[in-house]
Amino acid sequence: MSKTIKGYSKLSKEEKIDWLVKNYLNDDRSIKSEIMSYWHEDNAVQNRFDEFSENTLTNFYMPFGVAPNFLINGKTYCIPMVIEESSVVAAMSKSGKFWQDKGGFKTEVISTTKIGQVHFSFFGDKALLKSYFPSLKAQLLEGGKYLTVNMDSRGGGVLDIELVDLTEKEDGYFQLKVSFETCDSMGANFINTVLEEYANLLKEIICTENGFTEKVSIIMSIVSNYTPDCLVRAWVECKVEELGEVSGISAADFAQKFKMGVRIAEVDPHRAATHNKGIYNGVDAVIIATGNDFRAVEACGHVYAAKDGHYGSLSHCSVENGIFKFWIDLPLAVGTVGGLTQLHPMVKHSHEILGNPEAKALMEICAVAGLAQNFAALRALTTVGIQQGHMKMHLLNILNYMEATNQEKDYALTYFIDKIVSYTTVRVMLDQYRSVHKTAK
Ligand code: MEV
Repeated sequence: MSKTIKGYSKLSKEEKIDWLVKNYLNDDRSIKSEIMSYWHEDNAVQNRFDEFSENTLTNFYMPFGVAPNFLINGKTYCIPMVIEESSVVAAMSKSGKFWQDKGGFKTEVISTTKIGQVHFSFFGDKALLKSYFPSLKAQLLEGGKYLTVNMDSRGGGVLDIELVDLTEKEDGYFQLKVSFETCDSMGANFINTVLEEYANLLKEIICTENGFTEKVSIIMSIVSNYTPDCLVRAWVECKVEELGEVSGISAADFAQKFKMGVRIAEVDPHRAATHNKGIYNGVDAVIIATGNDFRAVEACGHVYAAKDGHYGSLSHCSVENGIFKFWIDLPLAVGTVGGLTQLHPMVKHSHEILGNPEAKALMEICAVAGLAQNFAALRALTTVGIQQGHMKMHLLNILNYMEATNQEKDYALTYFIDKIVSYTTVRVMLDQYRSVHKTAK
């Protein structure tokens, strides 16, 4: 039976834990101590974590790792990654190494425009609304200036406001579609603040004094997480023969198989979802490490992957005139100032490790992480298969699950060098080892 409580957020942190343990964790006091053991020893740091969210009880650990030796536009990066999936950082590092002596990764930021919308209903004179729009736009820009002045001085601000007529899709439905440049900030809060002000002004301006007989009704004002014009391209290329023999497959055959692997994701949504998931293994890990919003970034990418009317691959590959080229165009709205960037200690260090990049450079690094991850996955998939590397990395998780000792882990790591890893094979190996060494659990 589920238990409810009023005013939970008003309780102290310990009271909140007590309530949770009593009602949902069998009143097991040892779990209370365990939960509290994840608190940071420095109260100031812990308070900061607590205040990131509501009803915070403790911290939830995720591995923070790095993928070194990434050559991007001639500069070497060590890329911080936060991810729980065992094989991702290893795969990433493998790709970094593979491309290091082939010119590395190249990138280009294509555009940095973000979008926000005021959605409203208007059932009055459509033609009048449209003819009045230039004046409305000028009044909105003027009226919102006090909010944009800082961003303007940083080289950003509101780029344009359009009136979008969607009445053919839904009776009376219009939008103000506002485009923004938010420089080094992700910009969602700035955009939402400006939009809400525009909505207020819109309501005031479309009134009888200006010749309208109907009012507008504001439905909502919100940033769009679909930012196809905040776009970065990353690519790798080399002569086919420079690919070398890959896992026993000739360079030419590998190039063709790899290209076909990408093509399948271009045409088949089932494969595309998995293919793009692999891309976000890399992107999200950097996004989280740098304190950005991985939900926004993923939502955007998946809409972009369907921009041609069907869901497909975010990456592409060509093999032409003896040149292998593999690239990705990724919409990425990220920030290097604001948000958690100066508040979360490890986020701050991630930015330092990357050389405190501007937002554009961070877009490039994230796109490279996605492409590198995708390269590693396809390289394995089209040659030896994914399980060999994946399960090798997963081996430690299985061993930990089976409560293996350090000695047993050392033995297993050597034992499985040339064997298939699965729960069953590890179980059998451990049982044999324990019966010989009399260390059974
Ligand atoms: C697993 O997290 C990601 C892959 O499935 C990606 C892919 O299939 O391309 C290996």
